[in-house]
Amino acid sequence: MEQFETVTTSAEQTRKLGRLLGELLAPPALLFLTGDLGAGKTCFVQGLARGLQVPEDEPVTSPTFTLMNQYRGRAPLYHFDLYRLGGLDDLLDLGFEEYLYGDGVTVVEWAERATGLEDDALCLHFSQIDDASRRVSFRCRDGLCGSLLSQLADQWRERGLE
Ligand SMILES: Nc1ncnc2c1ncn2[C@@H]1O[C@H](COP(=O)(O)OP(=O)(O)OP(=O)(O)O)[C@@H](O)[C@H]1O
Ligand SMILES: [Mg+2]
Repeated sequence: MEQFETVTTSAEQTRKLGRLLGELLAPPALLFLTGDLGAGKTCFVQGLARGLQVPEDEPVTSPTFTLMNQYRGRAPLYHFDLYRLGGLDDLLDLGFEEYLYGDGVTVVEWAERATGLEDDALCLHFSQIDDASRRVSFRCRDGLCGSLLSQLADQWRERGLE
């Protein structure tokens, strides 16, 4: 298992972490995000979208009620939020499986609602430390992410954000 963990001390810093990952990602990619309400998942995806060159003036918001938003960057970005998922049938209706192994970047908030797929994804867990601080943990199985997590760790340190 490859892992990287850091603490962000503002929403802006979480966006920067997302942007850095977005810059480093080589699509296709599948990202599973877990963590409580308000832990910073959507905030991270906002940065991720910028790192994937989704135009700055395009708002990136939570697809809580629509279940999925789609953005056009240097690769297609599919942003799922499964918080309000009724059941696995809803996932089939959405054609979820096609996005899992497609050619773009698929990022899934509340990914624990669709269990059993963790081995194929880069998994991120967000937890609240206090009002302004969040712990963000990345893990993927050996070989899945190549050198992505070590690059992320190195560049995050180089930018002095850790
Ligand atoms: N270090 C931090 N990182 C991210 N968000 C932070 C941080 N500090 C404070 N916040 C605040 O916490 C909230 C995070 O909200 P966000 O919508 O990103 O959470 P979420 O995990 O997507 O929640 P939900 O499960 O409801 O979708 C925002 O209001 C943000 O301003
Ligand atoms: Mg959210």
